[in-house]
Amino acid sequence: MTDYVGALRLGVNIDHVATVRNARGGAYPDPLRAAKLAQEAGADGITAHLREDRRHITDADIDGLMEVLEIPLNFEMAATPEMQAIALRHKPHAVCIVPEKREERTTEGGLEVAREENQLAHFIAPLREAGCRVSIFIAADKRQIEAAHRIGAQVIELHTGAYCDAHSEGRFADRDAELERMREMSAFAHSLGLEVHAGHGLTYETVKPVAAFPEILELNIGHFIIGESIFLGLAPAIAEMRRLMDEARD
Ligand code: PXP
Repeated sequence: MTDYVGALRLGVNIDHVATVRNARGGAYPDPLRAAKLAQEAGADGITAHLREDRRHITDADIDGLMEVLEIPLNFEMAATPEMQAIALRHKPHAVCIVPEKREERTTEGGLEVAREENQLAHFIAPLREAGCRVSIFIAADKRQIEAAHRIGAQVIELHTGAYCDAHSEGRFADRDAELERMREMSAFAHSLGLEVHAGHGLTYETVKPVAAFPEILELNIGHFIIGESIFLGLAPAIAEMRRLMDEARD
């Protein structure tokens, strides 16, 4: 029997409901309605990334989420003074600090914590004091994990993008090597007392090996679920992801 650290939560990222809305600049599809439906469908949390350029989620979406959600909001943000002020105003359950480049299509890599240790330590201190659980989005790299621990983060989220890309491109040796790295590093992070989450690019095909890591307590999944909801509907798309996660833990 595997000794799991705890139950595995599913955080549903609703950014791409806003992407579709913003393509026409109107009011629908409404990310808030999606968040409420995800909540009813058994999501354990909602994740939303307020990007500097507001390309998907907007400030008004965050206001609305804070008002209507009964499950925790995981507020993803870059380490900028503007985002820190917004987080301190709302005090969401969790903030996840992610790297952000304007030209990227999505969050391409993990945060460089080791090089920015002092600035990040100062940056997250007020967020922790405000009661937010601070999570740092990083690659499965020992140096970054140690640095995240030193700066006082309570949580790390491992970037599963490289693993998922290798899978979809048929580079199976790379995929398996990345999976092994994540397995080792989730155990290492847990041994330091960090809570371990994972996410980015996960699909029905790639979720199970990651969900099976005993130290992982939360997966944050968005793009695939929102895409799949076109075919299945949002609640069934979430239910299928939940079923696969549970199957992996069995
Ligand atoms: N976790 C983090 C920290 C992210 O930045 C993202 C993407 O915004 C996700 C999870 C979800 O990734 P995806 O939308 O590819 O499932």
